[in-house]
Amino acid sequence: MQKLDSSKFVHVTNQRYRQHYHIMTPGGWLNDPNGLCYFKGYYHVFYQFHPYSSQWGPMHWGHVRSHDLVHWEQLPIALIPGDPEDSGGCFSGSAIIKGDRLYLIYTGHHYYGDGNPDHFWENQNLAYSDDGIHFTKYQHNPIIEAPADNTQHFRDPKVWEHDGAYYLVLGSQHQGDKLGRILLYRSSDLLNWKPCGPIIQSQGKSTEGWMWECPDFFSLNGQDVLVYSPMGIQPQGKRFLNLSQVCYRIGHLDYRTHHFIGTPQQELDHGHNFYATQSMLTPNGRRIQFGWMSPFNEKIPEQADGWAGSLTLPRELTLVNNILHVRPARELTALRNHTDINGDINVNGQQDLTVTDSQHTELIFNFQKTPHDFTWLLRAGQEILIKLTYQDNQLTLMRQGKDPYRYTTVKGLQDLHIFIDTSSLEIFANDGAAVFTERYYANEPVKLAVAATENCKSVVQAYQLK
Ligand code: FRU
Repeated sequence: MQKLDSSKFVHVTNQRYRQHYHIMTPGGWLNDPNGLCYFKGYYHVFYQFHPYSSQWGPMHWGHVRSHDLVHWEQLPIALIPGDPEDSGGCFSGSAIIKGDRLYLIYTGHHYYGDGNPDHFWENQNLAYSDDGIHFTKYQHNPIIEAPADNTQHFRDPKVWEHDGAYYLVLGSQHQGDKLGRILLYRSSDLLNWKPCGPIIQSQGKSTEGWMWECPDFFSLNGQDVLVYSPMGIQPQGKRFLNLSQVCYRIGHLDYRTHHFIGTPQQELDHGHNFYATQSMLTPNGRRIQFGWMSPFNEKIPEQADGWAGSLTLPRELTLVNNILHVRPARELTALRNHTDINGDINVNGQQDLTVTDSQHTELIFNFQKTPHDFTWLLRAGQEILIKLTYQDNQLTLMRQGKDPYRYTTVKGLQDLHIFIDTSSLEIFANDGAAVFTERYYANEPVKLAVAATENCKSVVQAYQLK
């Protein structure tokens, strides 16, 4: 493994946008969550990390662990790029436990050295650890190389075990039609992998995407779920408004024919800042997902402060009528420090919600009956930073700045569950049937308010978070 030069690490110079309870780097750039697993009493989360600058750069694997999914401890960098198998970066990948050992399977990214960042190739590699802290790269890397009918896009292995064999899915682009697809591989020992071909493929560049990255695959309630991050989908009315998004399909993977048959793709989160998810199982069988609160063609104000990026909260996935429901992990109640509000309110017109620390607050609204309309907003002085409005079975999120609106349809409004951190917001509606993930940047104290044009009754809880 290459050496780190810690004298060149970038440091955080200003705390103004630092999150209080989300995973971030200690300084430097972050993107995708990687290698999620539970190993020897700890949850492990790795992340795409560039420690030398707050800009994207040669990817390392940053690493945190936690006993409870709430309090995270930074560990030494797990993977450093620059070896022959990962000369240009240790790109995204996943983890699996076999025996007493934690294995990471990740993408080696390689440039041809002509200065063109789009001129690259990718392969898949293995690293392992017995203590969950120090990792050794496998001496016979790479373990998988791209098939002949693939373009250079060949990355982000997600590995799992099924019926005594190991499987992994990879994000890929087909050479012939230049469309995104998901490739399946099989192994009996994690070292030697056999291709099983594409399990599903995009049906069109602008409708389903020209590259599918960061696949995740798991079962929920006896159904199979495929989650991935397609690139290149064009907006379709009020859908697919981000540059890229996270989509999912519910269906069935046939382990004999190697085909996945499922529902049409749906967006998982409707906010401006959500991408590149991965999930793991808790020891008691719950499916926990993290995503990256990604910026798409946006300024990242914290880059001026020596860092960039944050993961989402851990979210628990369940399946209800072929819809993925996304709820904040129940462990997060451990963040509650102080109850600010607990009681009924009648909203008629606009009113402020007074809390102790508006940027570190969890808010829950339960509506006795679906309101005619309801608005929740976050403002700094007279400026509205974020506004969420329910009306006519639609949730509309408005964010200050360019390209402000995002939408989703819901069946009435039953509840809202909102987590505010220093520079992010996560909104879960109707028991997690709809989600919005947002970054926001406030340079003045923040106020919370609610509004309704017709009398709207709700039970409200507000907790100050540690
Ligand atoms: C998604 C992604 C992955 C890749 C990683 C590189 O955000 O592009 O496909 O492995 O980021 O950092």
